Amino acid sequence: MADEVLEILFDEQQIRARVADLAREITKEYAGRRLVLVSILRGSVFFATDLARQIELPLSMDFLSISSYGEDSEGVVRITKDLEENIAGKDVLVIEDIIDTGFTLKYLLRTLASRNPKSLEVCALLDRRARRIIEIELKYIGFEIPDKFVVGYGLDYRQRYRNLPYIGVLKPD
Ligand code: PRP
Repeated sequence: MADEVLEILFDEQQIRARVADLAREITKEYAGRRLVLVSILRGSVFFATDLARQIELPLSMDFLSISSYGEDSEGVVRITKDLEENIAGKDVLVIEDIIDTGFTLKYLLRTLASRNPKSLEVCALLDRRARRIIEIELKYIGFEIPDKFVVGYGLDYRQRYRNLPYIGVLKPD
């Protein structure tokens, strides 16, 4: 365990098992269809690539990068790298690492919905419900977590710790 980590919330094995569960559900529910996985940079990349490898369906992967205007941006979000693929008429599954207030996702879903996909759902690895301000329907959730600052498996603190193989809570300073 890294020195700066106070406790491990989910270890590699737990993450692997949960990702496999989610992939099984997705494979079943989208049977006979072709999926577009939209991974939101940068945090969701680890989760999205692991998940994609376990989904037994034809799929494509695309990436969207956004920046929000500071801490209290309240959903003022800007796309800094758009999708390559035209999603009109397609089954789109947005992959996120964590949902807090819901502002980012609300903006993303509104933007993506305006491009007329056939379906549009969300798969989030972590749901930190205590911070939610906007209610959003999340079709797939990996784990619900308490109101703690977490890092690892894609999640960062000042761009560090994304490559930890587990999800842990950082020690306070
Ligand atoms: C995280 C996460 C969501 C957003 C959720 O991204 O990936 O996009 O915050 O917060 P919200 O529900 O309060 O809107 P972050 O800004 O940490 O960027 P990163 O993925 O590059 O680490």
